[in-house]
Amino acid sequence: MYLLIPAAGSGRRMGSSRNKLLLPLLDRPLLFWTLSAAKASESIRWVGLIGQPEDFQDFKEIVVALSMTKFVHFIPGGSTRQESVYKGLQALPAVAERVLIHDGARCLITPALFDHCAREISQCPGLIAAVPVKDTIKVVESATHLVSGTLDRGQLWAAQTPKGFEVERLTQCHIEGNRQGWEVTDDAALFEQCGYPVKIVSGEETNLKVTTPVDLAIAEFILRQRNRR
Ligand code: C5P
Repeated sequence: MYLLIPAAGSGRRMGSSRNKLLLPLLDRPLLFWTLSAAKASESIRWVGLIGQPEDFQDFKEIVVALSMTKFVHFIPGGSTRQESVYKGLQALPAVAERVLIHDGARCLITPALFDHCAREISQCPGLIAAVPVKDTIKVVESATHLVSGTLDRGQLWAAQTPKGFEVERLTQCHIEGNRQGWEVTDDAALFEQCGYPVKIVSGEETNLKVTTPVDLAIAEFILRQRNRR
């Protein structure tokens, strides 16, 4: 399976002046843990690491420290995640029919979830790992801050990554999205807007995206628990 890892973001919401994926988590850069799960996955053979060129030297050091056994290709990213993923799609080998996309910031993914998504994507055109929403979600008028509705929680899932797609269809969706000016934070949203089906596969509650300093503290706690086991 081919895996693209968008890792070209910044540390803005983390309050950091550098890419948050290079911040330490249990004495290793955050991205080390994401790549370590990719290394341990049985299905992933090729990794496209999408980053800003100024981070490539640090990324290479992580790959060396891990003694990555899979081929790792470095791909210059864009100014949005959507642009970074499009650049990643263009850098895939021509023989790649399906791809998993996993945010570098979700550093607690397990190899088992990669392998589960890899198996599932062979049977559908698009998928997302997701978990049922635990909170009650309110719709709020942004101007007044008044609640305008309460959504039926039974139908709500929180999207994670990996997301998986047929490469040709997702590339078409990105091209159509660029043409129409669609701006999305999620590749599956492009797929949905083009009318293609996206299946949910069960994600992992611990597969959180490290966005703020609190997430970093939680991630560290979970990793410590895992290492103790
Ligand atoms: O900022 P956020 O955590 O939502 O970004 C999700 C993922 O997309 C991160 O792994 C980040 O590095 C990546 N990203 C990217 N290119 C950008 C912005 C974000 O690859 N321009």
